[in-house]
Amino acid sequence: MNDAKEEIRARLAVEDVVGQYIELKKAGRNFKGHSPWGTDKTPSFMVSPDKGIWHDFSSNKGGDIFSFVMEIEGIDFREALEKLAVQAGVELAKYDGGDERVAARKKRMRECLELAAKYFQVCLTQNKPVMEYVFYKRNLNRGTVEKFKIGYAPMEGRALRAFLEKRGFSEREMKDAGLLNQYGGDLFKGRVMIPLMDTVGAVVGFTGRILSDKDKNSPKYLNTPETLLYNKGRHVFGLSQAKEAIRKSDFVVVVEGNMDVISSHQAGVCEAVATAGTAMTEMHVKALSRLSSDIRLAYDGDEAGVAAAERAIGIASRMGVYLSVIDNYDGCKDADELIQKGVELWQKAVKGYVPAVEWLLGKYEDKYDLKTEKGFKEYSDTAKRLIGQLEDATLREKYERMVSEKLGVSLESFRSKELKETGRRLKKAAAVAKDDNSGPSKAEKSLAALAKFGGTEVDKELIYSKLNENELSLIYEHRYAGWGEEAKRKEIDELTQRVKEEKRQKQKENLSAAIAEAEKAGEEGRVEELLKELKVILQE
Ligand code: UTP
Ligand code: MN
Repeated sequence: MNDAKEEIRARLAVEDVVGQYIELKKAGRNFKGHSPWGTDKTPSFMVSPDKGIWHDFSSNKGGDIFSFVMEIEGIDFREALEKLAVQAGVELAKYDGGDERVAARKKRMRECLELAAKYFQVCLTQNKPVMEYVFYKRNLNRGTVEKFKIGYAPMEGRALRAFLEKRGFSEREMKDAGLLNQYGGDLFKGRVMIPLMDTVGAVVGFTGRILSDKDKNSPKYLNTPETLLYNKGRHVFGLSQAKEAIRKSDFVVVVEGNMDVISSHQAGVCEAVATAGTAMTEMHVKALSRLSSDIRLAYDGDEAGVAAAERAIGIASRMGVYLSVIDNYDGCKDADELIQKGVELWQKAVKGYVPAVEWLLGKYEDKYDLKTEKGFKEYSDTAKRLIGQLEDATLREKYERMVSEKLGVSLESFRSKELKETGRRLKKAAAVAKDDNSGPSKAEKSLAALAKFGGTEVDKELIYSKLNENELSLIYEHRYAGWGEEAKRKEIDELTQRVKEEKRQKQKENLSAAIAEAEKAGEEGRVEELLKELKVILQE
């Protein structure tokens, strides 16, 4: 990969790459321009062709062409590499350690998805009831429908498939792209189609909504399954459309659903994105924090919203972003509903944000009755736990003061308060860790990768470690992409045997350790019990 990086660097001049975004003027041996991140009066952005670097004196950022594209586009290194590789005419596949096949597959997937999106767009214009749904019921205008490339997947079982076949795509390629169901027919039927795009606006999947809310037989939204291109825990809906505005306004609004994002953009709040259908992950926050460190959650004040905000606080604190909550919904159930009621209500709402911790503490105050001893204790426990998640000591102190005042106790007493439950949780975590001391083995990971991405049956009981989906996808790409069914079957059989044996060994070790411990503690009954278990395992 370093070779590819060097090759690209050698082929592209830093002033040309930067020059695509900023107007540069020659100044001696260097170039100068206005900072894209600051509001400098005199040009404070400098490019040195000799050294191949740039530096922005107003924001104190600097680096090479890769970091520049990462910063300005708000994308990660891999994406910047891919983008610049195209400009440099460097074929990354050649450098990807023999993964040309994967790269080629991804390329076909992208072409397939792009074409599918176009097809859905055309289908929308040909169906009057769906046009009515989109334009009148959902109140979207033409600009919005185009910006989000909204379309329609026809009812017929194989319409898209037939269309793509005519354009030369194979069943395998359509399956790769996540467009077919298990029977080889279209996955999306009779749904309003919203493309999911990556940070640079390339289609990586779809989410499809049913037309009638009365239809209780199918899920309201159907999403592309995880593919080589689409990863749910990583995907931020609307990012490619929002990133310009986010960078400019220096804040991001995270709403709950895709339709909320779309409506919000139409309402002029183009900083809106969503982590649709899943809780916010570290990967989501990372992607957002590249554009702005001011993240505003437009979450519901209900239980689910509170839980989601609680989860997000820990992540945000670790990643050093500022988290706040917008919940001025005026009695509406989501952003879209509020926008339908009045565009200006939403525009005003996003300006009225409260720090997330403060918002949560307020929620706790509503929930617990501090006048009763039980409520007092529960409030102080919950608040303590929440504040404990903050990494910044000064912020922690600020909230500790707030809460102890509320409780009418001294700061010291609140600080020294111990959380029993946390202790128990820690012990439990330690026990789990001990149980699983060596972590998932190579065989287990391979098996899990095949189970997840191989499209083949695997004994799921054998995979009990928590495994990272991205890692699995990498393993799959690296080891098994392009393998035939037969070869995969054989591999699974072998791995299954190996994992079973490994588990047996591990159980044996754990039991032996437990027996030794019980013996030391003089717990004879326990020793007997454990010995019996050990015997069973040895006989297997
Ligand atoms: P909501 O049920 O709040 O939907 O789900 P919504 O965004 O308000 O949609 P409309 O306005 O009725 O069209 C919030 C998000 O949860 C995911 C979707 O991403 C949705 O945007 N979801 C919901 C699913 O993935 N599947 C479902 O069946 C429902
Ligand atoms: Mn809605």
